Amino acid sequence: MLRSATTDDLDALVALASRPEIARTLAFDTAATLPSVFEVASGEVLVIEDGGVLVGGVRWHLTNHRSRIAEIRTLMLSPEAHGRGLATAAVRALAERLFTKHRLHRVEAEVLGFNLPAQSVFERAGFVREGIRRRAYNREGGWQDSVFFGLLADEFV
Ligand SMILES: CC(C)(COP(=O)(O)OP(=O)(O)OC[C@H]1O[C@@H](n2cnc3c(N)ncnc32)[C@H](O)[C@@H]1OP(=O)(O)O)[C@@H](O)C(=O)NCCC(=O)NCCS
Repeated sequence: MLRSATTDDLDALVALASRPEIARTLAFDTAATLPSVFEVASGEVLVIEDGGVLVGGVRWHLTNHRSRIAEIRTLMLSPEAHGRGLATAAVRALAERLFTKHRLHRVEAEVLGFNLPAQSVFERAGFVREGIRRRAYNREGGWQDSVFFGLLADEFV
């Protein structure tokens, strides 16, 4: 249910990232910058599929080559596909891909404090809540905390 995205997927992924209910949870420039991250060598854009149909996307980026750390970014699912565990399964599949194929040591994610569904997804996928970045982002008319999640290779079971 997780496959590498191709440029044919770009329009669908940008459309998803532009939906207001999704855009409010992502970095503010995600939809605009998504085309350029396809060309970044130190990471990957992936499609989440359900029964062969694109229902979402996620990407990862190598943030520290020497210490083998990657960050999961831009996790998003079409609202019609919510609540069935697809996001949790996709995050677990991506973590496995990063630890086995890419031999990473640590995988991280940052989630806005008000985004309880995404926090639940990372916790269900085995990530540890590592800290709060207080009033880090000016979103939705006020300062929002963000929550850091981390998972180590030897914690992944
Ligand atoms: C985050 C997102 C990918 C989760 O997709 P999903 O298919 O609903 O995820 P899952 O079904 O795997 O899990 C959802 C979890 O959130 C929980 N949840 C849903 N709404 C919630 C709420 N308002 N408060 C608390 N938890 C909530 C569900 O109970 C479930 O947790 P559980 O497995 O412990 O029961 C999806 O909501 C989404 O695309 N949101 C917009 C984009 C986004 O937030 N991306 C993350 C950026 S960091």
